[in-house]
Amino acid sequence: MSPKRKSGTTPRRTTHADESVRVLIPRERIKKRIKELATKIRQDFPDQPLHLVGVLKGAVFFLADLARQISGEVSFDFIAVSSYGHDTRSSGQVRLTRDLDADVEGKTVIVVEDILDTGMTMQYLLSIFQQRKPKHLRVVALLDKPERRVTAVQADYVGFRIPNEFVVGYGLDYAERYRNLLDVAVLTIGKVEKKKKV
Ligand code: IMP
Ligand code: MG
Repeated sequence: MSPKRKSGTTPRRTTHADESVRVLIPRERIKKRIKELATKIRQDFPDQPLHLVGVLKGAVFFLADLARQISGEVSFDFIAVSSYGHDTRSSGQVRLTRDLDADVEGKTVIVVEDILDTGMTMQYLLSIFQQRKPKHLRVVALLDKPERRVTAVQADYVGFRIPNEFVVGYGLDYAERYRNLLDVAVLTIGKVEKKKKV
């Protein structure tokens, strides 16, 4: 039997021999923070139906957990964009790959994103949504890497500010893997922790 390790202290090997993950934000903290975010969002819009728009695929678990913590009327939809492909290098180009099912005109829209990194994805999404005349437009991001920002975009609600490290888990991927980890973890490839390149 392998020895038990305290989460967050020891890098864990994965099925890919040169990759390992180290827990950065454990699941209990994520859960607690999402409750706080849900309460704050509802306080800001006490009487309104809220329309959550999740950015596929990274935001699926975050949206699912957040939506269930917000009281009152909530609906949701998904949008998908591609900017990075299977690499962590940004092409600087954001492309809409799946549009919303329903019109957002007149709705109180909360864009739900896994992570704000350079901000290019969110800048593009906000420009699209603004043209569609929602009643209110807000952004909630589970994670924020402010050091990496190249645009003026800010989230109205942020779960956790994190340093410039490449993270996976709780929806976030590396080449489509690790989304199913319950915690947010730093990915290490070889001996060097992965840093995201622009
Ligand atoms: P941005 O356009 O640079 O802000 O990047 C936003 C998107 O890049 C996010 O929705 C993620 O899909 C992806 N991304 C940015 N940083 C990370 C990371 O550390 N791990 C995994 N995906 C990331
Ligand atoms: Mg991604």
